[in-house]
Formats: sequence, structure tokens, C-alpha cells
Amino acid sequence: DTATTFSDTAATTASTALTHIAALVTNDPSLGDGSPIGLIQDAAVVIEGDRVVWVGESSKAPPTDNALDLGGRAVVPGFVDSHSHLVFAGDRTAEFNARMSGRAYTAGGIRTTVAATRAASDADLTANVARYVAEALRQGTTTQETKSGYGLTVEDEARALRIASDHTDEVTYLGAHIVPPDHADDPAAYVALVTGDMLDACAPYARWIDVFCETGAFDGDQARAILLAGRAKGLHPRIHANQLSHGPGVQLAVELDAASADHCTHLTDADVDALAHSDTVATLLPGAEFSTRAPWPDARRLLDAGATVALSTDCNPGSSFTSSMPFCMALAVRDMRMTPDEAIWSATAGGARALRRTDIGRLTPGARADLTVLDAPSHVHLAYRPGVPLVSSVWRGGVRLL
Ligand code: NIG
Ligand code: FE
Repeated sequence: DTATTFSDTAATTASTALTHIAALVTNDPSLGDGSPIGLIQDAAVVIEGDRVVWVGESSKAPPTDNALDLGGRAVVPGFVDSHSHLVFAGDRTAEFNARMSGRAYTAGGIRTTVAATRAASDADLTANVARYVAEALRQGTTTQETKSGYGLTVEDEARALRIASDHTDEVTYLGAHIVPPDHADDPAAYVALVTGDMLDACAPYARWIDVFCETGAFDGDQARAILLAGRAKGLHPRIHANQLSHGPGVQLAVELDAASADHCTHLTDADVDALAHSDTVATLLPGAEFSTRAPWPDARRLLDAGATVALSTDCNPGSSFTSSMPFCMALAVRDMRMTPDEAIWSATAGGARALRRTDIGRLTPGARADLTVLDAPSHVHLAYRPGVPLVSSVWRGGVRLL
């Protein structure tokens, strides 16, 4: 009867304590060591339903229905990967090979993936997205943003977003990735399509609108028109900005209160200053610099100026074919001079800011219970032991998935 059903449901919200956590990253500076990552040693986390309801020192944990001894492992918020391009077919092994023998990266390779993606079946694209989301989960990612941008027709962009939205809530419309070959002689007509019929078909599936603002892709005026059109349809802006050269992308991101300016590889002092005095996050994507042999973004300069920095994978078959947030953190620490504390903050709380989310990227009462448990005594090992699969288990919304 109804009463029985109700109590069965209630039973699934029993409280569970995760105990014997050697080091817990909460991202609440009022907790633990008082640093920005609020590190608590010898900690416990209590989960009820899909939420965290208590964090603190193990010895002070309240009584719970269940307990799981984590045996001295570290716990961090599930990684928030706020920038990826997972709806694609084929790969670009040949292009990577050529690059590693000295060829430069140009965004021209995007056309190769557009052709393969248009030719792929829905089932193949769905299988690819599922595969890369699962691959990321195994590496501790519990929130995955992903974009269209390899369809570049009304039907192919809408299809990409529909498929993406079956796998994540953080979906971004990137019809303005490049001007496709079929519109090469009339870029204005392509911008009209992106801001017209294509936007109408895509907006129902997306939360965000993005544009690749770069020489050879879309200039500042085109990018502004595209983002404003998206905003008029209820999509929030984010931008591929200043990746391959100095350009207007970062200033435009700040002007439009974009949630994030992504890449930020080539910045002027004015760009750094604008970011530091805005709510726009600088999302750094070191997998792209790794795989294109480009200069590293200057994370230290952004952090020292007071900008909010996120780290993400940019997972895509051209410029950054990694789904691994730990790999990106290791690069950020070794090559971008971030501290291990800054890297874990940027890969969790930073990503949450870049998605304007307050329910994820932290482990404090009220947060969604998204946790990554490490086979290591602290988050520092993510950079200290690069390339080692340290993820021991992953919880999302209070459910253990791995
Ligand atoms: O973020 N820069 C634009 N888009 C991707 C690369 C896409 C590709 O090369 O296929 C990026 O790096
Ligand atoms: Fe990208």
C-alpha cells in the first residue's frame, strides 16, 4: 500500500558516513586548515539522499545508518570538467602525428571532424559520447560540460545537442565553431544561420552558447552578434577566447558577463585586469597546449592578479584528446606553476564557477554528494604521481557509480 511504498522510498535516503578519510578537500575556507580548499585531516563525510549533510573530523561524526571505512584514502569533490567537445566521429591521428614531426596546429583540422561527424549515424555518435563520459567518470569527473560544433548544419547541430543532452545537463551550442566549407564564400550567411534557424533548432537542448573567437574563425563583431542572439533565446554566453593569438575574445567575454573565457593563452595586461575585475572565469585547458606544442597559459599571472581560474580538458579529437582531469592538473602544476592546492580548487570549485553552479565543486552541507575517492593520502598525489590511475571510487548524487 501507499504507506509501505513511502517508507521504502525513505529507506533509500538513509544516512551513510564515509570515514577514515586521510585528507578531505571541502573548498570551504572556513573549514579545516582554513586555506581556500578547506582541507580537513582525518575526516568523515555524511551523505543523506543525494546531498552531503555533514563534514568534519572523524572523531566528531554524528551517528549514521551506515558507515564505509575509506582506509586512509583522500576525498575530493568530483571533478567539474566545464569544457569539452565530445560529440564527434573519427579521430585525427594523422594530424597529431604530423604535428609531433613539426607541423603547426591550425583550426583547419576541425573540417576533418565535421565531415566524419556529419557522416556518422546517431547510434555511433551516441556510443562515442557515452564512451567518453564513462572514460571521464573513471578518472573522477562527475560533471561534464560538452558542446556541439562538428555538425555545422541546422540538423547536425541539433542532433549533436540532442545526443549530448541524453548524457549531461551542461550542454553548449557551438554552431559558431568555424565557417563550414559549404559557406566559405558567404560567412555572413553562415552567421545569419547560426543566429537564426540553427539557434531556434538548438536552443531547446542547450544551456549555453559558445563561439570560437579567433582569426580564421569568428571576429569580435560576429562573436558579439552570435552571443547576443543566444542570450535573447535564454542561452548564457561562454567563449573560446585568445587561444591561438591575441584578440577581442576576453574583452567580449567580460563585456557580456560570459560565465567563462576559455583557453586564455595569449593575454594582454588589459585582458588579465578585465578578468580579475569580473565574474568571468578564466578556464585554462593545458591539454590543448600539450597536444599542440603551444606556449602554456600564464596561470600564475592570472591568479596573482586575482582572476578566478578553472581547469578543464577541452577533450576533442583535434587539439586535446584527453578526458583526464588529473592529467590536466599535473600539467597545470608542473608547467603552469599552479600549486597542487590551486589545481584541485580550479578543477572542482573553479569548474563549478565556470558553469555558474553552487551545488557542485565543494563538499559541505547542502552540496550534491559528488565525491572522488583517491587511492592516495592527499590530493597532492594527483600531480605528484602523474599518469597513475589514482581514482578508487566515484559517487554522484549520493550514489556510488564506481
Ligand atoms: O577548443 N579551438 C577550437 N576548438 C577546439 C579544437 C577543435 C579541433 O581542433 O577539432 C579547441 O581547441
Ligand atoms: Fe574547446
